[in-house]
Amino acid sequence: MKALILGGKTGLLGQALAHVMKQKKWEVVCPDRNEIDLFNARQLDSFIQDNRIEFVFNTVAYTRVDQAEDEQESALQLNKNLPSVLGKVCRGRNIYLIHYSTDFVFDGKKNTPYTTEDTPLSQSTYGRTKLEGEKVLLSDPWDRLLVIRTAWLFGPFKTNFVDRIISMAREKDNLNVVHDQVGSPTYTLDLAKYSLKLVDKETSGLFHLANKGQATWCELASEVIRCAGLYCKTTPVPSAEYPHKAVRPSYSVLDCSKYCMITGCSPRSWIQSLRDYVYHYQQ
Ligand SMILES: NC(=O)c1ccc[n+]([C@@H]2O[C@H](COP(=O)([O-])OP(=O)(O)OC[C@H]3O[C@@H](n4cnc5c(N)ncnc54)[C@H](OP(=O)(O)O)[C@@H]3O)[C@@H](O)[C@H]2O)c1
Repeated sequence: MKALILGGKTGLLGQALAHVMKQKKWEVVCPDRNEIDLFNARQLDSFIQDNRIEFVFNTVAYTRVDQAEDEQESALQLNKNLPSVLGKVCRGRNIYLIHYSTDFVFDGKKNTPYTTEDTPLSQSTYGRTKLEGEKVLLSDPWDRLLVIRTAWLFGPFKTNFVDRIISMAREKDNLNVVHDQVGSPTYTLDLAKYSLKLVDKETSGLFHLANKGQATWCELASEVIRCAGLYCKTTPVPSAEYPHKAVRPSYSVLDCSKYCMITGCSPRSWIQSLRDYVYHYQQ
C-alpha cells in the first residue's frame, strides 16, 4: 500500500505516521514544502498519479495557535483551502483521504467528553479555520474520507510539551503549570496505529481519536516529571496568569466511543503511553 503523507518529513504527527507505516511495510512518500506545491491542484493530481498514491494522510496545518490570531489569512489558507484542494483531487480519483483536525473546534463549555455529535463552536482563529476545513470536506463527502479530530499531541521526532517539561524540570525545582484547561493527552505513535485501524475497516466520516483519560496541563506535567524520575515540584496556576492571544477551550476531552464501536479497539490510557514515550525516547 502506498501513501502520501503531507507533513511526513517535519511534522509531529506526520513523522509518527511515517514511522509506524514503514514498520507496517507501507510504502510512504513524504515530500517537504519545497518539493510540491500543495495548493496547485493540477500538480498535486499529477504527483498522486505519477507516484501511484492510494492514500493521502494530511497532517499539514497552520498549528501556531496564538500567531494565527495575527495571521488569519495564512491560517485559512492551510486549514481550510488546503483540505478543499485535497478533497477535490482525492474525490476525483477515489483516493482515501485521512485528514486531521483538533479538539480546539469546541468552545469548552461542556464538562463531559465531546462526541462527534456535539456542535462545534470555536473561540480561536486556529479552531475556526480547522473547523472550516472539516466542513469543506464533510459537506461533500465520499466513501473514502476520514476526518479525525485529535488533541494534545506528544511523541518523538519533534519538540513538544512533554520534552519542554523534561528539560525545564532538569533546570528548576518548581514549575508553574496551567491547571484550568482539561484535555486528552495523546501519543502520536498510538494515534498513527489507531488511525490505520480505521483505514483497515474502510470506514469514512468524522471521528474523535485520542488516548483514554483526561488531564490538566499541570497533571500532565506532574506525570511527565514522575515518569522521567526527576525531582521538581509543579504548582497549579490559572491560565489567567499566562495570558495568550488565542482563547483555548477550558475543557476539550474527546469521546472516542464511535472509534471504539467501529474498530472494536479501545485506545490505551495516556499515562501508559506517556511511560512508553519517556522510557523509549527520553532516557
Ligand atoms: N500538536 C497538537 O497538539 C495537535 C492537537 C490537536 C490536533 N492537531 C492536528 O494534528 C495535525 C498535525 O499537527 P502537528 O502538531 O503534527 O503539526 P506540526 O508539527 O506543526 O506540523 C505541521 C506540518 O505542516 C507543514 N507546513 C506548515 N506550513 C506549511 C506550508 N505553508 N506548506 C507546506 N507545509 C507546511 C510543516 O512543515 P514545516 O516543518 O516545513 O513548517 C509540518 O510538516 C494538524 O491537523 C493539527 O491541527 C495537533
